[in-house]
Amino acid sequence: MLSKKLEDALNAQINAELWSAYLYLSMSAHFAAEGKPGFANWFEIQFKEEQDHAMKFFKYIIERGGKVELKPVAEVPLSWKSPLDAFEDTLKHEKVVTGLINDLVSLAKEEKDYATESLLKWFIDEQVEEEATATSFIDALKLIKDNGFGIYTLDKELQGRAYSPIAE
Ligand code: FEO
Repeated sequence: MLSKKLEDALNAQINAELWSAYLYLSMSAHFAAEGKPGFANWFEIQFKEEQDHAMKFFKYIIERGGKVELKPVAEVPLSWKSPLDAFEDTLKHEKVVTGLINDLVSLAKEEKDYATESLLKWFIDEQVEEEATATSFIDALKLIKDNGFGIYTLDKELQGRAYSPIAE
């Protein structure tokens, strides 16, 4: 059985993951409206992955005999100055999420809840990947600067990204 403290913290993390999903869906909408379907596709897949993260916590709370309590999802920004701006925001946000996951690990350790610690290991690894991916896009977009052909080429490349659900 989860402690009440950990149950509350995991419920708060569901909200944070859903906020992330909403943020990336907003980025997808922004780029779709700007005529950049590749960036829109890439962020739509991010949105789906964040929903998967939320569901991983959702299912885990239930598996451990806890109760999921969904809270309102806060407003997200609606536009970005450029793809670089969006990826810089992405990295900033993923760093915040990494901090939240680290705090959850500290709490699980305090509560001697080894099962939760084991679940969180997956998220620790995922955050390393999330931050590295955002950083690589920032590096590429800094090289591209305002070069229209560079943005067009990257947009084409991002149209090829396909979604695959995370392993349970
Ligand atoms: Fe759910 Fe992007 O971390």
